Amino acid sequence: MRAIQVKEYVKGPLELQITSLPTPSPSPNEYLIEIHSAGTNFFDLLQIQGKYQHQPPLPWIGGAEFAGTVLALPTSIPASRACFRIGDRVFGATQGAYATHILAPEHTLLPVPNGWSFEDAAGLFVTAPTSYGGLVHRANVKPNDWVLVHAAAGGVGLAAVQIAKGKGAVVIATASTERKRQVAREFGADYVIDYRNKSWPEEVKSLCAQHRTGNGKAGVDIVYDPVGMIDASLKCVTWNARLLVIGFAAGNIEKVALNRVLLKNVAVIGLHWGQYAKFEKDTVSTVWKGVFDLVAQGKFKGTAFKDESFVGLESVPMALEALGRRETWGKVIVKVINDEPKSKL
Ligand SMILES: NC(=O)c1ccc[n+]([C@@H]2O[C@H](COP(=O)([O-])OP(=O)(O)OC[C@H]3O[C@@H](n4cnc5c(N)ncnc54)[C@H](OP(=O)(O)O)[C@@H]3O)[C@@H](O)[C@H]2O)c1
Repeated sequence: MRAIQVKEYVKGPLELQITSLPTPSPSPNEYLIEIHSAGTNFFDLLQIQGKYQHQPPLPWIGGAEFAGTVLALPTSIPASRACFRIGDRVFGATQGAYATHILAPEHTLLPVPNGWSFEDAAGLFVTAPTSYGGLVHRANVKPNDWVLVHAAAGGVGLAAVQIAKGKGAVVIATASTERKRQVAREFGADYVIDYRNKSWPEEVKSLCAQHRTGNGKAGVDIVYDPVGMIDASLKCVTWNARLLVIGFAAGNIEKVALNRVLLKNVAVIGLHWGQYAKFEKDTVSTVWKGVFDLVAQGKFKGTAFKDESFVGLESVPMALEALGRRETWGKVIVKVINDEPKSKL
């Protein structure tokens, strides 16, 4: 097989190289998958530089998210008890996705939704359940709630826009560029705001004052924050609001003035999706059922970045560079195998 193997830490993705390695043999507990598409994540950039919280012992294969087909079942499980069959289309996440093949345990795999491409499925495993878990499980989003989604054109952001809309909420989306705001609108946002403009909380308040009634005139009911903007967002929330702490993409871990939390009777709620598999396994399947229901209802679609394409493992460095420049939207996906239908011309 071919893979991007990290033998020593690099300064940046352009130093990454492709290596030929033996294709893994079928394993007792893991499925052998042929990877068609791999998803990129900001943490991949940190990991190749040795700066991530999870650093496997060198050498290791980069990448975490993938979609592909099952080539072999775990050898210790009777085929009748295995969740997947040879040839099934699956997506998942485990270390080593920047490769043509990967071994993955059953709990890290899910079936590719009907009609979905490998490209779209390769970006689903982290973003969709994070946003569903946050908005539905933690913040109890309801029809007609107003939800402010920060960095709405990012990976988890575009998932959050679709889930909030799918649950009947009104969405105000923030993003840093016109293109990203356009994308947020295309995925369902009702209003968009440029949050590089310091007066953005006033813009949120003004939209709520114009279009809402009762307590809602003061601000939004839910804030979905993958950036680190809870403190500023407290200026534009209404009574009983829920503010979801999802991440710190801007690089700062915020300190929040708790008097505002008390005065507005609001809740600041953390969400650590990756830990649900350890502490709350039942919720993992409930959340995925909710995501798949929205997919089946046509309310959730893939968010693969389409303005530029990255084909072949050779393009992983360029894909990671593009992600790191903050110029992309949705999920930046590398097509490890270019399986788009061929043009009939
Ligand atoms: N809590 C959880 O369980 C969980 C799960 C998954 C991800 N996360 C976290 O959520 C955050 C977003 O993840 P993602 O996958 O959506 O990432 P992403 O696709 O790279 O999107 C991040 C967005 O953040 C915005 N941003 C603001 N300041 C930035 C900066 N200084 N540098 C880069 N981007 C900046 C950008 O939008 P604009 O250009 O519009 O500002 C960008 O689109 C990350 O911190 C990630 O670790 C948390």
